[in-house]
Amino acid sequence: MLRLIHVPAVFALFGSTFAAFYTDPSQLKQTTYDFVIVGAGIGGGVVAARLSENPSVKVLVIEAGVDDTGYRSEQIQIPFMCGQASVDSPFDWNYTTTPQKALNNQAIGYARGFVMGGSSSTNYLIWTRGSSDDFNRFAKVAGDNSYSWNSILPYFKKSERHVIPSDGRNDSAEYLPAFHGFSGPLAFSTTGNLSGIDDKILATTKELSAEFPFNQDTNSGKLLGLGWQQDAIGNGTRQSSSSAYLKPALNSRSNIDVLIHTRATRLLKTGSTGSVPEFKSLEIATTSTGPRTKITARKEIILSAGAIGTPQILMLSGIGNAADLAKVGINSTVSLPEVGTNLQDHPLTSTQWEVSPDAVTRDGIVLGTDPAAAQAAVERWNTNRTGVMSTTLSNHMGFFRLPSNSSVLAKYGDGSSGPGSAHYELAWVNNFMTINQPFPTSGKYVANINVVVSPTSRGSVTLASSDPFAAPLIDPNFYNTDLDLQVMLESIKASKRFISAKVWDGYIVKPYGDLEQALGPNGTDADIIAYIRQWTGSIKHPMCTAPVNGAKGKGVVDANLKVKNLTGVRIVDGSVFPYIPAAAPQAAIYGVSELAADKIKKSWGL
Ligand SMILES: Cc1cc2nc3c(=O)[nH]c(=O)nc-3n(C[C@H](O)[C@H](O)[C@H](O)COP(=O)(O)OP(=O)(O)OC[C@H]3O[C@@H](n4cnc5c(N)ncnc54)[C@H](O)[C@@H]3O)c2cc1C
Ligand SMILES: *[C@@H]1O[C@H](CO)[C@@H](O)[C@H](O)[C@H]1NC(C)=O
Ligand SMILES: *[C@@H]1O[C@H](CO)[C@@H](O)[C@H](O)[C@H]1NC(C)=O
Ligand SMILES: *[C@@H]1O[C@H](CO)[C@@H](O)[C@H](O)[C@H]1NC(C)=O
Ligand SMILES: *[C@@H]1O[C@H](CO)[C@@H](O)[C@H](O)[C@H]1NC(C)=O
Ligand SMILES: *[C@@H]1O[C@H](CO)[C@@H](O)[C@H](O)[C@H]1NC(C)=O
Ligand SMILES: *[C@@H]1O[C@H](CO)[C@@H](O)[C@H](O)[C@H]1NC(C)=O
Ligand SMILES: *[C@@H]1O[C@H](CO)[C@@H](O)[C@H](O)[C@H]1NC(C)=O
Ligand SMILES: *[C@@H]1O[C@H](CO)[C@@H](O)[C@H](O)[C@H]1NC(C)=O
Ligand SMILES: *[C@@H]1O[C@H](CO)[C@@H](O)[C@H](O)[C@H]1NC(C)=O
Repeated sequence: MLRLIHVPAVFALFGSTFAAFYTDPSQLKQTTYDFVIVGAGIGGGVVAARLSENPSVKVLVIEAGVDDTGYRSEQIQIPFMCGQASVDSPFDWNYTTTPQKALNNQAIGYARGFVMGGSSSTNYLIWTRGSSDDFNRFAKVAGDNSYSWNSILPYFKKSERHVIPSDGRNDSAEYLPAFHGFSGPLAFSTTGNLSGIDDKILATTKELSAEFPFNQDTNSGKLLGLGWQQDAIGNGTRQSSSSAYLKPALNSRSNIDVLIHTRATRLLKTGSTGSVPEFKSLEIATTSTGPRTKITARKEIILSAGAIGTPQILMLSGIGNAADLAKVGINSTVSLPEVGTNLQDHPLTSTQWEVSPDAVTRDGIVLGTDPAAAQAAVERWNTNRTGVMSTTLSNHMGFFRLPSNSSVLAKYGDGSSGPGSAHYELAWVNNFMTINQPFPTSGKYVANINVVVSPTSRGSVTLASSDPFAAPLIDPNFYNTDLDLQVMLESIKASKRFISAKVWDGYIVKPYGDLEQALGPNGTDADIIAYIRQWTGSIKHPMCTAPVNGAKGKGVVDANLKVKNLTGVRIVDGSVFPYIPAAAPQAAIYGVSELAADKIKKSWGL
């Protein structure tokens, strides 16, 4: 694996007069703020930065995890080290799922960021929004047109700042400027380090254009096809909600405080209007049995603890399904039965092929067989933020549908948000890549990431204990529907067709490991399914555990993202999506959070 060297903290705080960065509740100078935000991930970082633009309000952000500078922070900052940022890491919650029935009862790793920036500090940096159909469906469920593609596009643009790749390449043919922002907080770019397979991938979109067409910008709302992957990378460095939103706000304003190393343990009832209870206070703590501190919001509390943390805090506060809460000894305060029930995630299965010995791959660095190359690459990144360390795993990504006459769709239904949305994603990687298979010790490979992007399986987050420091039970319930399993099967068959294009002749040697038999001439669908059940993991996109719903009596939040059946609390993070988008979700969550910040400002006349 990669040798690590320490890099200086890039985002160290400097010179701010009043904004404070606290590491223990005892340091707080006040316990009442206008807005109290729980979680410094994407939702929390965006909302905190936007609300504090108004100097008349005072904002507190409470984050359970650690700072994103200092020890091991090079794994956060260096894009190519993203695979390590969440593994055996001080920046991770270390969750494991419940045993997954469809995965031979394996319990799988379930990384979540425990750090400033939340999972945006530890993720794989892929910057995708999903399809226009995804957001039009969102708007329909919410009963609020502001979430529709055309209405939310300005908020996607508001969040981002296009920059040229770290190699200085002219990228004008690699994206469509009309769909992007050029002055937002978060820099994004296409890859800064071209790889040995890029030309072959692009040639395949010409040779097999009927099945795998080129799309100049899969972030244009028109998702289908294969294009240049956009990444949350600027200046060769990871862009997170901390580096792009929160730290700049802290460095320049006096009306925003951040408290890290501290968990919100529950919401506290502060009154009621008629029969509707109000929750404007919050209990925080640093250990399971240690002292509790009460924090109060003059205006409102915003939960941005992510798809796992947000339902956990609601349930710890007695907000959820009363019968389930009683099982762990928590008295119901508010009936909201859908809390935690709607978990959606994208299952991922990697496929790998051995390639020709003279191929130029990144395996020397990834497999650790060429430590000198790894060291040189890190040194180069330290010098000028260029080279392989300045890019993430794949340079291209594609989104595809099963054919409309597919027997799978006829038998199991569609599942996607519409005809412009995808069933599966392929992303090609110029080295051995997996999230759960043992790495080989030698060789050269091309790998593909197969992802079911419009899953219909729904899992859950439930409490294992009333102890707020105990991990909740997380069940993504992968392949609970036949559709999801069949889509993964079709995706793997499509990968095989992709690298069967003539342009790969003489490059591909054979499928790797168990795949050799499964994809060989005597292999069967059952063999591929056995591979899927053994090697599927999560791409770590849990969402939808506190879903929006415009209909009375349904969902967890209303169209303004206010928690139903109570007052004082709003939710802004990935848990409010009614359906998971058909792509990696971070850009979508930034956009929805930008929109949410505007909704909050408007509701308080700010
Ligand atoms: C390994 C990995 C790879 C990924 N790759 C990609 C990718 O390439 N592209 C992409 O688009 N998405 C990717 N994702 C997903 C993406 O990062 C998340 O969907 C996104 O960050 C979710 O944003 P959020 O605001 O909902 O939650 P988060 O960003 O997770 O933030 C939640 C924050 O709340 C804090 N918190 C939780 N509970 C409490 C509590 N009780 N008290 C105080 N604070 C609390 C957490 O510590 C965290 O900082 C990946 C995620 C992971 C983990
Ligand atoms: C996860 O484990 C790492 C050690 O590998 C540790 O540093 C970190 O604090 C753990 N996370 C939590 C939330 O306990
Ligand atoms: C990039 O290439 C395009 C198309 O060839 C060209 O119009 C544009 O001027 C180039 N940009 C720069 C900065 O060279
Ligand atoms: C739950 O409510 C019952 C009855 O009001 C009370 O006796 C008990 O102490 C409460 N439990 C907790 C954990 O608050
Ligand atoms: C970055 O540094 C490397 C040497 O470490 C050099 O080869 C390369 O040209 C430099 N790139 C830029 C853009 O300065
Ligand atoms: C980009 O990185 C270099 C280090 O190579 C640093 O000196 C410079 O300040 C950075 N620029 C920005 C805009 O972050
Ligand atoms: C990618 O980066 C490596 C160094 O990290 C460098 O040797 C190689 O030339 C770069 N590739 C291209 C196409 O620039
Ligand atoms: C679907 O249509 C394509 C061409 O239009 C055809 O080749 C294929 O056999 C059809 N598949 C099924 C399952 O009918
Ligand atoms: C496939 O099966 C046939 C018949 O059993 C056998 O002759 C052949 O060697 C097998 N091929 C492979 C690649 O296993
Ligand atoms: C609100 O509470 C009522 C019971 O008071 C419950 O029936 C209803 O399902 C709750 N609303 C939602 C959105 O769950």
